[in-house]
Amino acid sequence: MRPSPKATEQHARPSADYADKLARTRALLRTSVTDFSPLKQASSLGAEDVVITHLINALALDIPVFVLETGALHNETLALLERTEAHSRAPIEVFRPDHHAVIHFVRERGQDAIYRSIEERKTCCDIRKLEPLKRALQGQRAWITGLRREQSANRGAVDLIDKSELTTQGRIKLNPLADWTWGDVWHYIATEGVDYNPLHDEFFPSIGCAPCTRAISLGEDFRAGRWWWEDEAAKECGLHATHTPDKTPEKAPA
Ligand code: ADX
Ligand code: SF4
Repeated sequence: MRPSPKATEQHARPSADYADKLARTRALLRTSVTDFSPLKQASSLGAEDVVITHLINALALDIPVFVLETGALHNETLALLERTEAHSRAPIEVFRPDHHAVIHFVRERGQDAIYRSIEERKTCCDIRKLEPLKRALQGQRAWITGLRREQSANRGAVDLIDKSELTTQGRIKLNPLADWTWGDVWHYIATEGVDYNPLHDEFFPSIGCAPCTRAISLGEDFRAGRWWWEDEAAKECGLHATHTPDKTPEKAPA
């Protein structure tokens, strides 16, 4: 049987205005250092984030990159993290959850708690992602993320420079790929030869923790493989809560 094509072959299709978008993204990253330092890039090591880290390195920008290593990432993601640590010019900072809090949660609630209710799942995200995020962003004026408008309805209004966290968190969120398409992201990866997570070749467009991420089928939405047992509007872990407009009622356990 013919192996399925690589993600680069499947998806690399630049928009007509790709060159303009790339120029704007480069300009935004350059000015972010003068305008918003200290700042960091948040990287899940997904396709968007490896593009941004590649740009930071190519432009020799003084922007550290942090990864929230939740203790539940796929082996493929951990292997990419190791390669990135070895090759990146920008420092790669790894933030892990409080070991005792993780053990306590699993012991008290069990391994399958996250599938039982949105509350349990969000408690796990709080422990494994949000508390480490707080530490990662301490003292920062801004952070850079790979959010794109095309990713979901919740993210349809993402701004390049998002000031919505300024009053509550005291920092700005920069989304330099906000207007990039999936085809643009993969065009960059293909033309620049960027190292990426091989799970993208296995129909994982959006990659989070292993227990909460599955491959998608033909015709499914970009984020259909994330928290697939929950309602659409609940599919955020709290890292980007301001883009979640509604609270969705909890779904009955399967
Ligand atoms: S999530 O909220 O559903 O988990 P998603 O996986 O789409 O987010 O990633 C959106 C952006 O959030 C990424 O581009 C990245 O900037 C940041 N992010 C997500 N997961 C992590 C992680 N484990 N470590 C660091 N940043 C992350
Ligand atoms: Fe826990 Fe899943 Fe959230 Fe990861 S994505 S922190 S495993 S609930």
